[in-house]
Amino acid sequence: MTEIQRVGVVGAGQMGLGIAEVSARAGLDVVLTDVSEEAAKAGRSRIWKSLNRAVQKQKISEADRDAAQERIRCTTSLAELHDRGLVIEAVAENEEVKAKVFTELDQVVGDPEAILASNTSSIPIAKLASATKRPAQVIGIHFFNPVPVLKLVEVVPSLLTGEQTTQRATDFAADRLGKEAIRAQDRAGFVVNALLVPYLLSAIRMVDNGVASAEDIDNGMELGCAHPMGPLRLADMVGLDTVKAIADSMHAEYKDPGYAAPPLLQRMVDANLLGKKSGNGFYEYG
Ligand code: 3HC
Repeated sequence: MTEIQRVGVVGAGQMGLGIAEVSARAGLDVVLTDVSEEAAKAGRSRIWKSLNRAVQKQKISEADRDAAQERIRCTTSLAELHDRGLVIEAVAENEEVKAKVFTELDQVVGDPEAILASNTSSIPIAKLASATKRPAQVIGIHFFNPVPVLKLVEVVPSLLTGEQTTQRATDFAADRLGKEAIRAQDRAGFVVNALLVPYLLSAIRMVDNGVASAEDIDNGMELGCAHPMGPLRLADMVGLDTVKAIADSMHAEYKDPGYAAPPLLQRMVDANLLGKKSGNGFYEYG
């Protein structure tokens, strides 16, 4: 089995960019694709900015930054992923869109040993695997935001994933990227979101019910429980559309009312108040 050297990332959103950056910093050759030329271009400059910040913080040298930049190619063509040993899909949290990406990846990725992974937070890996003719090589590799900072990766085999794929994905996350890998069953929310999202939804319900302001709830959890970020600041950072999509998947799977998106979250998403990425959420961003 050849070692993974060439990685593809599909989707130049905040997670895809983070995955591309950490992969390039780990010495891997990266092709990053997005359907939109504008997104691919903007993504490239955001990675460059993040690498510059790492230089300023003396985490990497200027030579490391230049080498990482050399290793990342941005494109709008999925066909350019044909020679990849691992492709990580990080498009919007929508089952139909993701399944379509997997069907296309199955057609373009030429290496029969290649792993097709999803960074999904909550969509069943088995459904994405079933969109391909190589379900044994489909797996969840779920990163956490901000990807360059947070050490965790959830490795999520489906009922159809081969043991070798699980081992290779775990080794990739741990040995190549230096992350801490935990294994989770293919159930909506896996481990971390199954615990985190009900907490975020509870905080949104508290705002909705007028129990306390967003600032006071966040201060409560930051100062009273030493969380690095309160739940509403965190929901804004994750993206309110993503929080809602994860809640919807978990609610569909478990039918637990605790997972239902509160009306305030639904209305904010309807109004395109998506948090940091849209400039407005529970807070305003300049
Ligand atoms: N990219 C790279 N580095 C970053 C970064 C980014 N986007 N944001 C912050 N950093 C680095 C900074 O450079 C700094 O590094 P240093 O300590 O070496 O100087 C360090 O992180 C701390 O940053 P700051 O001092 O600027 O700010 P904070 O101390 O407030 O930390 C934070 C910011 C790292 C985002 C911290 O608040 C945090 O960890 N928050 C919780 C995030 C979290 O819970 N994420 C999980 C979300 S759930 C998820 O992703 C799953 C998905 O499916 C929804």
